[in-house]
Amino acid sequence: MLISVTTTGSVEGVYGNDFHAPDEAAPRPVPTEADGEPASFRALLAGDERVEPRDEMPEAYRKTLVRQIAQHAHSEIIGMQPEGNWISRAPSLKRKAILLAKVQDEAGHGLYLYSAAETLGADRGDLTRRLIEGRQKYSSIFNYPTLTWADVGAIGWLVDGAAIVNQVPICRCSYGPYARAMVRICKEESFHQRQGFELLLTLSRGTPEQKAMAQDAADRWWWPSLMMFGPPDDASPNSAQSMAWGIKKHSNDELRQRFVDMTVPQAQVLGLELPDPDLHWDGEHWLFGEIDWSEFYAVLKGNGPCNEQRLNHRRRAHDDGAWVREAASAYAEKQAARAAHREEVA
Ligand SMILES: [Fe+2]
Ligand SMILES: [Fe+2]
Repeated sequence: MLISVTTTGSVEGVYGNDFHAPDEAAPRPVPTEADGEPASFRALLAGDERVEPRDEMPEAYRKTLVRQIAQHAHSEIIGMQPEGNWISRAPSLKRKAILLAKVQDEAGHGLYLYSAAETLGADRGDLTRRLIEGRQKYSSIFNYPTLTWADVGAIGWLVDGAAIVNQVPICRCSYGPYARAMVRICKEESFHQRQGFELLLTLSRGTPEQKAMAQDAADRWWWPSLMMFGPPDDASPNSAQSMAWGIKKHSNDELRQRFVDMTVPQAQVLGLELPDPDLHWDGEHWLFGEIDWSEFYAVLKGNGPCNEQRLNHRRRAHDDGAWVREAASAYAEKQAARAAHREEVA
């Protein structure tokens, strides 16, 4: 749709997908009876308490969490690539410093999440192998290329914006270490989203060429960011179980709608069109057109524009880092041997 509104006044309160403390009073789905689940686990879920690493938990719950947290961690790490691509070409020292900080944050997010997966007995090396051998997925959004500088803005505004909508409810998920990692991650994503918006606002108020560059980036990133919420609810078979376990709080379609409602007014402030002729306000929500799910599944299967490039790059980085891992292990062994020797002597 064409949105011609350009607000010249304050954009305060419009552009931030702020992190808010999760609403403690929000109702949780009532746990359903499930065969073979430890009573203590059922009691924790029923009492809206966190499941901690020491607690008994069903194997399927543990496996689901390891898979989800690992995929989330992989996404943070692979997600450094499309933007890392622009660090050396940022148009000013200030922009370079902001982008460097943002990409470093994503590395940190990956590391918190791998640590959270380790509390469930997962091995970080094994998770990395699964990623680089293509046996575990990461978010498909990072298989799209960053063709211009405006893409850095569009990723912050749309991709980090969608990540916030997805992740804020996880701050209240049933598994303690995952929920706690997400609190800091969401605060940092808030900064990422704002920097992307501010970058695009600068471009869209700049020369006609800069404005066109911002528009082109919005055109290319809009639909893929709607796909970030996953398949529609009727094609999302594992969601019900994740909801019963308190891992998932809202359905894919519900979160997608929340994102669209939040983002359309921001596009108006930016003076950018969103590439959807069916987008309209129905008095309550911004309703959007049909999503091309065939594109989503093609990218998921490995046929996106950059799947191969992203994995090759990750593999190369892993191989190049072998000496660091070897040196760290040798150092740890030496320290352990010295400590053992000291004990013998004492
Ligand atoms: Fe992140
Ligand atoms: Fe981010």
